[in-house]
Amino acid sequence: MFNHDHLKRREISALRSQRWYAPNTIRAFAHRQRSQQMGYRREEFLGKPVIGIINTWSDMSTCHTHLRERAEAVKRGIWAAGGFPVELPALSMGEVMVKPTTMLYRNFLAMETEELLRQHPIDGVVLLGGCDKSTPALLMGAISMDIPAIFCPAGPMSSGKWHGQVTGAGTHTKKYWDQLRLGAITQHDWIELEGAMTRSIGTCNTMGTASTMTSIADAMGFTLPGASSIPAADSRHPQMASLCGETIVDMVWYDHKPSNWLKRENFLNGIAAYLSLGGSTNAAIHLIAMANRAKVQLTLDDMAELARHIPVLANLFPSGEKLMEEFYFAGGLLAQLSKITDFLHQESVGVTNQPVSQWLENAHCYDDDIIRNLDNPIVPLSQGCALTVLRGNLCPNGAVMKSSAASPALRHHRGPALVFDTHQQLSDCIDDPDLDVTKDSVIILRNAGPVGAPGMPEWGNLPIPKKLLQQGVTDMVRISDCRMSGTHYGTCILHVAPEAAVGGPLALVQTGDLIELNIDAGTLNMLVDDTTLARRRADFQPTHRVFQRSWAALYQQHVTQADEGCDFDFLQAGSDVPEPPIF
Ligand code: FES
Repeated sequence: MFNHDHLKRREISALRSQRWYAPNTIRAFAHRQRSQQMGYRREEFLGKPVIGIINTWSDMSTCHTHLRERAEAVKRGIWAAGGFPVELPALSMGEVMVKPTTMLYRNFLAMETEELLRQHPIDGVVLLGGCDKSTPALLMGAISMDIPAIFCPAGPMSSGKWHGQVTGAGTHTKKYWDQLRLGAITQHDWIELEGAMTRSIGTCNTMGTASTMTSIADAMGFTLPGASSIPAADSRHPQMASLCGETIVDMVWYDHKPSNWLKRENFLNGIAAYLSLGGSTNAAIHLIAMANRAKVQLTLDDMAELARHIPVLANLFPSGEKLMEEFYFAGGLLAQLSKITDFLHQESVGVTNQPVSQWLENAHCYDDDIIRNLDNPIVPLSQGCALTVLRGNLCPNGAVMKSSAASPALRHHRGPALVFDTHQQLSDCIDDPDLDVTKDSVIILRNAGPVGAPGMPEWGNLPIPKKLLQQGVTDMVRISDCRMSGTHYGTCILHVAPEAAVGGPLALVQTGDLIELNIDAGTLNMLVDDTTLARRRADFQPTHRVFQRSWAALYQQHVTQADEGCDFDFLQAGSDVPEPPIF
């Protein structure tokens, strides 16, 4: 599968693992001896590329249950191609189980990936992941380490149905929770749904953050072309994993590392795919973080510019009404890319060193309703897109929203703020029948950003007050400095930067202030005069909890803001780290 054209095959002596294994020294003796301790003969590893398999399996990473088996499939491919596979467990980040949020640990896994590769005799790596933050984390680490790397996506779970209705993981949880709160379904229904909604191995079966990020990785070239769409439970999934193992060995021989192929154009292809899929707003943060690692200049404005031209074409939850398995049968990501060729850099290559134009020779769309043409989008550009960037005196460095998932009636809205300083305060008050709120109110949650929470949890789909739900209100303008699950929808403005905890203007809003949102103009402002704002700024005191120890302390000290990717300042591209000495 790997395209060798114009590449020079390296000698075994050029591989970094040889520094550990080849010399006639007491240290290298120990490395060879310890490899034989595992039961391998010398001939099974000496003179071969050593391929790491970074596996994010764990019993708490529920979408990755099958990754232990997939690691075996990867090894099969590596052995077949003449490599020596070694499996390395890494932090598991099951999106639903990890509290307060996996985003707090994305940089942890990125750091762990980079350091696992650096500290060991690894020539190339297969990255096994897929649940939400695991994809950007693994890629960030691999980009920084800059050895040949291929991403093997976990694959989406099988489609679900309950009581004859399609159920998408995440997307429908909120819908049925609101129905339970209103008495429209019974407690018995709710418990039955709990056991029915996620019916197989794999990542969420909607176009949530997991599928968004694996599709972006695919479109950027980090996977075998089209691999992100293969359902986890399909027999073609372990076949793909095996081919990843085979491909990485070639990538090592030809030194096909990220710095040799990953360019700004790959990121733009990833953004084009993301927008056409109606993907998660989380992507805006991860793309910038990955680009920084690759020393590629990428901003929210680059995404906003493409978003002006690329409508949502994929008929997938939460923007549409189909699930990932149906998307695969409709042709999957390659078919999706074939619909947006005008926006793709087709000369770009990925891990196989084949140009995008060559991938697309294998693209076939079998269902034009699921994967639509540009002239028949799921949401016309006039009604919104996957990523709208807003600016104004409430978010000078930007805020984002998925305007395609917003209510048309709220595209231009002015209403009084109802401000909550903490999620606890919001939870305690939101269903109070005496809460002073109307459908025109703008609900605000602050101190929930990268530093404030810390970790910027997915709380941004703020609940509609129960008394308004009972009046039939299903959407309101909601603003926060946190994120929102990619499986959710509504007129939710997210990632407000700078966040309240570091003194961003969101910290200055008071309940009752008029807020004006104008999606068409790309603006979000509080209608408060400058003198009043200056007075409030002078009185500002941060109220978020500051951690003195633990990972959270390191995180709060070094995390950057949402518009900068929320990476650690000391992990962004800078001076290179030397190879470890071997004595
Ligand atoms: Fe793992 Fe959604 S919870 S992908």
